[in-house]
Amino acid sequence: MSGLSPSAPHWISVASARLPANVGRDVEVRGWVRTRRDSKGGFSFIELNDGSCLSNLQIVADNQLENYDREIACLSVGSSIVAKGQLKPSEGQGQATELAASEVRLVGDCPHDFPLQKKRHSFEKLREWAHLRPRTNSFGAVTRVRNQLAMSVHQFFQDEGFYYVNTPIITASDCEGAGQMFRVTTLPMDKLPRTANGQIDHARDFFGKPAYLTVSGQLEAEIFATSLGRCYTFGPTFRAENSNTSRHLAEFWMIEPEAAFYELPDNMALAERFIDRLLSDVLSKCAEDMHFFDERVQPGLLLALRQVLEKPFVHMTYTEAIEILQNCGQQFEYAVEWGIDLQAEHERYLTEQHVQGPLILHNYPKTIKPFYMRCNDDGRTVAAMDVLVPGVGEIIGGSQREERLDVLTGRMLEMELSESDYWWYLELRKFGSVPHSGFGLGFERVVQWITGMTNIRDCIPMPRVPGWAEF
Ligand code: 4AD
Ligand code: MG
Repeated sequence: MSGLSPSAPHWISVASARLPANVGRDVEVRGWVRTRRDSKGGFSFIELNDGSCLSNLQIVADNQLENYDREIACLSVGSSIVAKGQLKPSEGQGQATELAASEVRLVGDCPHDFPLQKKRHSFEKLREWAHLRPRTNSFGAVTRVRNQLAMSVHQFFQDEGFYYVNTPIITASDCEGAGQMFRVTTLPMDKLPRTANGQIDHARDFFGKPAYLTVSGQLEAEIFATSLGRCYTFGPTFRAENSNTSRHLAEFWMIEPEAAFYELPDNMALAERFIDRLLSDVLSKCAEDMHFFDERVQPGLLLALRQVLEKPFVHMTYTEAIEILQNCGQQFEYAVEWGIDLQAEHERYLTEQHVQGPLILHNYPKTIKPFYMRCNDDGRTVAAMDVLVPGVGEIIGGSQREERLDVLTGRMLEMELSESDYWWYLELRKFGSVPHSGFGLGFERVVQWITGMTNIRDCIPMPRVPGWAEF
């Protein structure tokens, strides 16, 4: 046994040990050595990090300590230690306190092949060390910001009277109809059971029919919106899209609110309040980490985010957006004409050049949107909305849902979807149907936008992308 007790009376975090109010206290700190250097007067300076904040605690260890030559003087980067002593005001730059150690004990040694030595590594390289990268400044900061965002998601929706529901991860229905689902099966791959006519015998599979990892919890969330009024999901979703981009993951987390009696304008207003809340919480509660991103990752980030809070989001129809793109004089790789699905380059032009801030686009052509979106009276658009932000593009996709049974079944026929696959979804329109709306916010995309990280793979602990499922 290590002899360490989590209830040790003096054990405090590095974050609290750095507070001037704690000067004079006898404390114990526990963490990992970021650096150690000798000073002339027979001291070692140890920079200790325990994940509680971006900054380290400076520990001053005197060469009179019993294990100084044997242990302290050879502490290597990455090793774990426990240190006790008194907190003193520090004369050093960037810190109010330091620990005058009366004891420094090595817990876990760290040999010199520890990859995170002082030299800087690229984010690409760090992805190969996803088990160690949370010990770097940037991933520590991403992790704390992500944690705050998750808390704010729940607090925001609880304050707005939404119930948190857990929709299934394994499902038989393809919500988005894009055919990007991962198959879940227990059938033996090397000996697939066949029916008499040579087809795969799905009846012999675990669920008795084909099953998949969900791409969205929306359809099930609609069940709860049309009974409890307002609900939201917050869970993992999966997409087998072969996109090797800086904003696509095969496994990502999505927040999906769904509300009865909400029409498209209510939905757009909810999205704006939600994003504003996420931003203001992170700016006030993760100030140190956000300052780090502003300084080291994306200069100008804080100013841009503060401006978002000051101005209302710009609203624009898809049709207006197409006109802007056609008349802006910019050459795009993908030609712009009414009816196209907007590409990242188009979204980025609109939000970065034209609006220079968040933008809500609405009323998209029905041909590029899923079956469940409410048809507008013009016969060619649906009551869809996407929220686009600079640097990332789409962070939210949502819509008012088609609540009219006959219109919905008509759309399904057009799109060659079978009514029997969606029988329960259709019954929601048969039994006391109501107008309702909702949206999905890609959690990693919002982390990416708020931290200014350039690649979404650095906004989730263990990214899953084509060809990569390590860790
Ligand atoms: O626009 P999407 O496909 O919408 C839906 O799934 C709806 N059922 C949501 C709803 O109305 N309840 O996805 C929603 C959001 C996108 O705006 C994007 O932020 C994120 O999910 N997203 C991804 N994030 C990371 N990697 C991917 N491959 C993503 N695909 C979508
Ligand atoms: Mg979308």
